[in-house]
Amino acid sequence: MDTKKLLIFASGKGTNFEAIVKYFKNSDIIIELLSDKKDAPVLQKAKKYNIKSYFVEFKNIEEFLKNKNYDLYILAGFMRILPEEVMNKGKFLNIHPSLLPEYKGKNAILNTYKNNDKAGISIHYVTRDVDSGGIIFQKEIENYKTLDELEEKIHKLEHKFYPEIIENELIKKNVLIIGSGAREHILAEKIKESKFLNKLYLANPNDGFKNLGEVIEYKNYEELSYKAKFFGIDYLVAGAENPMADGIVDLFLSKGIKSFGCDKEFSKLESKKSYAKKLMQKFDIKTAPYVVIQQIEEIDSALKNFQFPPVIKADGLCFGKGVYIPESFSDAKKIIIEFLKGKFKDASKKVILEQRLYGNEFSLFSLYDGKKLLNFPLAKDYKKENSGDLGKNTGGMGSIAHYKCNFNLDEYNNKLLKLLASIKGYYRGVIYSGMIETNDGVYVLEYNVRFGDPEIQSLLQLIETDFIEIIDKTINSKLDKLNLKTEDNFASTVVMAAKGYPDNPKKGGEIKNIENVIKKYKVKIYYSGVKIKDDKTFASGGRILSVTKKGKNAISDIYKAIGEIEFKDKKFRDDIGS
Ligand code: GLY
Repeated sequence: MDTKKLLIFASGKGTNFEAIVKYFKNSDIIIELLSDKKDAPVLQKAKKYNIKSYFVEFKNIEEFLKNKNYDLYILAGFMRILPEEVMNKGKFLNIHPSLLPEYKGKNAILNTYKNNDKAGISIHYVTRDVDSGGIIFQKEIENYKTLDELEEKIHKLEHKFYPEIIENELIKKNVLIIGSGAREHILAEKIKESKFLNKLYLANPNDGFKNLGEVIEYKNYEELSYKAKFFGIDYLVAGAENPMADGIVDLFLSKGIKSFGCDKEFSKLESKKSYAKKLMQKFDIKTAPYVVIQQIEEIDSALKNFQFPPVIKADGLCFGKGVYIPESFSDAKKIIIEFLKGKFKDASKKVILEQRLYGNEFSLFSLYDGKKLLNFPLAKDYKKENSGDLGKNTGGMGSIAHYKCNFNLDEYNNKLLKLLASIKGYYRGVIYSGMIETNDGVYVLEYNVRFGDPEIQSLLQLIETDFIEIIDKTINSKLDKLNLKTEDNFASTVVMAAKGYPDNPKKGGEIKNIENVIKKYKVKIYYSGVKIKDDKTFASGGRILSVTKKGKNAISDIYKAIGEIEFKDKKFRDDIGS
């Protein structure tokens, strides 16, 4: 375990403080003490054990903590309710001498005793409501006769279990993944495999993977963030771009919950294409020539600057549907007018007209910890709906990893690092460079602030490093200490969509024989648009599921599996990996 820092809040005798200090005596854990009582005996104890301690008047605690950061905050006999601003510094634990929710607040032991009730201890996360956060641990006291005996037994239990629970909380993480696609399904699978997982929570999962964690229901992100505090979430993993563009990371950070992802400012790299293009040009990153169109009158003269066909892109987020290659100039004009008039609402009120590039497209995913980039092996997705790269653009119909392309990655990383460093904000996650290898070198087509779906389904089959370790090192700006172990192998994914995808996918059809093909062909299935009812699986979206496998025969097994999945509305490409 890396060195961790604990801040203990105590204002009394400090017996729990002493138990914690003794427990971590020969470890890498650094402990500090804060007391709001000048003459509290706990301050003397701190001196005795050589622990750095602070006396801070209650009203000054928020100010005192402003530029200080700890991995965990521990309440150990602290007599006051801390303001929310203080609790938004990070994760707080408390210990309470009753079996919560019974006997909240003061005099818990005395009241338990008076009622001759069940007694015990509770260790819980701290929210703004008194003694009400999610319970981590409880232990009942078998029997007691006198008040003194009860007190003694409670303290004994506290001193034994509080340090152990603290240690577990420092090592093992509660992770919340938000998102409902196959990308979030594989993220959940990888995180579930981690030896550093305490508990996995899911926000808005689809029915196909909601069994991998505890589902948190919420009406808005504010409520989700409250529940995340309640459950002691250490890390939010933001799977898709929209929550980040809506500011979920900013909100969670303001509550003291670290996120694998980026804030609203950085998410503009994906949610505002004109912004990203401008930065690419500024930092000398090769990208196709473009113009931005905002008025219908600008269309004719803009089109004249491009060889036919140019690429038309909505500036904002359109769920992968905002890119169009026109068939003629009049078609181009028609589409641009539709975009400007709000085909994708505000997202298309600005249009990017870009020179079309020809070559092989691929995806580069890099971890970014605010200082350093660490690249995954390259991957490739197949964006067009039909085999032979024909038809409309989709979110992705298949993928392979790793993909080979020789280009100067160090030079590119240096430029990308400069670009990222020019933006002020929070980014501890994945930056996705959508690239194309042309006769004239490698160009960047776009940036995304997340993993690609379905690239990640293939790519993560090859990653051997514990996924929570990846998250942990990224979030805590320690990528220089991360050994990203990659298997030298290939993996592929074929997406099974519903007929009519991407425009009008047919919904409601039943999908059968999935368990059989998993066993028979040793493939993995990652769900996206499915509903499960009475053990039956039904199509409920465009992309239904991904079939993934690594190693020899992967592609032929995947296609055999797809062939045997019974779903009369299925649509897939038969040329993935070829
Ligand atoms: N596979 C493309 C994307 O995730 O945007």
